[in-house]
Amino acid sequence: MRLYRYFEGEVPPYLARHFWWAYMWRGLTWFFDTPIIISSILFGQYKTLKHATIEHVSKIADRGRMLQLTCVYGRLTPRIMEQLDPQPLHITDIVPVQLELARDKAVPPEKLLATRMNAENLAYRDDSFATVLIFFLLHELPPEARRKVLGECMRVLSPGGTLVVTEYSHLPKQHIFYRSPVARRILYRAEPFLEPFWNEDLLELLNDLAQPHGKAVEVASHQEYFGGFYRVTEYRLSEGV
Ligand SMILES: C[S@@+](CC[C@H](N)C(=O)[O-])C[C@H]1O[C@@H](n2cnc3c(N)ncnc32)[C@H](O)[C@@H]1O
Repeated sequence: MRLYRYFEGEVPPYLARHFWWAYMWRGLTWFFDTPIIISSILFGQYKTLKHATIEHVSKIADRGRMLQLTCVYGRLTPRIMEQLDPQPLHITDIVPVQLELARDKAVPPEKLLATRMNAENLAYRDDSFATVLIFFLLHELPPEARRKVLGECMRVLSPGGTLVVTEYSHLPKQHIFYRSPVARRILYRAEPFLEPFWNEDLLELLNDLAQPHGKAVEVASHQEYFGGFYRVTEYRLSEGV
């Protein structure tokens, strides 16, 4: 039975088809939001990656408006809000139940400006954020959707702004999870868009997408974790030449 058909219609097709069970089914969100499941999905690295992301954000928190592009399970969002205080945090997601979960965790709730949008087509103005944070979204997107989402990031970030990306690293050829055909197969089954993401040159793509907005991108900082399997990268935007 094609259960995903029940979730089709109001979200991008890839989301209903491949991830309905993880993000859209109300009855299961409590399960995915438990620390042990969050940690298992990231091979025990969730806390490390969360702390590393918060550390990056804390250094740039005073630079202006910040957007977290899509919700995440766990306590990342309330911790980011602490760093931004007294500024609010903007957050957007296409799935209502995910926005509800984020709102339930927000302290104080009015400091989380949660809006339902498709990240491929944001309703924010050009140059309206100093920081955009993306935590493990990009590898879940088909290449065309990823292009659109990153294109929107390049549009809404102001020159001088920062895109913080916490994600799988670029193709981890030396890592055991890549070298083992069995592990690779399991990963590709669970993450249908990971392979094209692994092969994408993100900096080159970002510069392609920034150019029409008169912007250019460089890597401001880059740290790898779990033997190079994951990374936190800060991309800094400038006025293009
Ligand atoms: C951030 S990603 C992966 C998060 C990671 N697995 C975790 O929870 O830590 C998952 C979120 O992205 C959202 N999402 C996926 N595609 C989207 C799109 N095009 N627009 C808005 N939200 C989207 C999903 O609804 C979900 O809440």
